[in-house]
Amino acid sequence: MKGLVLAGGKGTRLRPITYTSAKQLVPVANKPVLFYGIEAIVAAGITEVGIIVGDTAEEIEAAVGDGSRFGARVTYIPQEAPLGLAHAVKIAEPFLGDEPFVMYLGDNLIAGGITSLVEEFRAGGCNAMILLAEVPNPEQFGVAELAGGAVKRLVEKPKEPPSNLALVGVYMFDRQIFESVRRIRPSARGELEITDAIQDLIDRHLVVHPHRVRGWWKDTGKLEDMLEANHIVLEQLRTPRRGEVGVRSRIEGRVEMGEGVELVDSLVRGPVVLGAGTRLENAFVGPYTSIGEGCTLVRCEIENSIVLSHCEIRDVGLRIDGSLIGRNAKIVRTDFKPKALRFVLGDNSEVGIQ
Ligand code: TTP
Repeated sequence: MKGLVLAGGKGTRLRPITYTSAKQLVPVANKPVLFYGIEAIVAAGITEVGIIVGDTAEEIEAAVGDGSRFGARVTYIPQEAPLGLAHAVKIAEPFLGDEPFVMYLGDNLIAGGITSLVEEFRAGGCNAMILLAEVPNPEQFGVAELAGGAVKRLVEKPKEPPSNLALVGVYMFDRQIFESVRRIRPSARGELEITDAIQDLIDRHLVVHPHRVRGWWKDTGKLEDMLEANHIVLEQLRTPRRGEVGVRSRIEGRVEMGEGVELVDSLVRGPVVLGAGTRLENAFVGPYTSIGEGCTLVRCEIENSIVLSHCEIRDVGLRIDGSLIGRNAKIVRTDFKPKALRFVLGDNSEVGIQ
């Protein structure tokens, strides 16, 4: 079997972060989301992996390389524009050939990996396997209607959902899917939809097996989901505390620290990860926070947040909560007159002030 990871797309829902960076590289517990997917594929015994890349190809390739660090052989497949998940399958046909494959959306996280699912699919008996999870807001997903345990119909973001079973971003296919992606036409939003391609398999009386996912699963395409994914992954942090406690500082709970982290007069209450070379002085870092490498936090408090590398946060009077802060960002108090708030914000930035 081969793997196909989708790491192109527009990432409009995660702007402004995605103006300058691929959404699949936003870190969850200080590791890019994309890496969790690649690791899950390799853990399932699949080492030939194709990665679909778009505008952010260079950055994705710099991060993943040839795949050897994951024990995989990676082939990059450029997509000229985000023309849909089924379009990605179409352009990957020369790479995939006749082999069955697992398709993994590069911004998805799924509990417990995919090994048992891949084994189930490998055992044979179906042309495709889709994963379904109950969600409270099915109108925002591809949704499946089941009848007698079989998939009857799939609809993309339905106004009136036929069920609350959303399609999870991991699919398994044999080569029949190529015929289906050739048969379908672009949807109203101009994309070749994977739901339409799978519907075509059903209409051709091929076997599409639905597998219900009971554990958690997250599509990290939006801020809230990103923070929730960070929460879930940090919750599972099992590593004992690593690193020095530091001068007049306290660490509570599970805290993972990179090389050269410095704590002075600070309190870190886990689960938290602190990237290498980060310095805290007179700071509080609360539960479910991931701080990237080389950050400086002085006289400030933060929790339930993701801070990317090389940020500076200094003398902020109120606790920072539920935030995603991009690389090299600065939030600092200044002495300039007049006393005012001063911003340099990228397009689509959001600032909440109380
Ligand atoms: P989506 O989250 O559905 O699409 P998007 O990345 O364009 O995001 P937004 O809706 O916020 O604008 O895509 C799921 C995954 O598949 C994601 O990792 C991007 C990837 N993808 C491709 O590689 N090619 C495509 O044509 C599309 C639509 C998505």
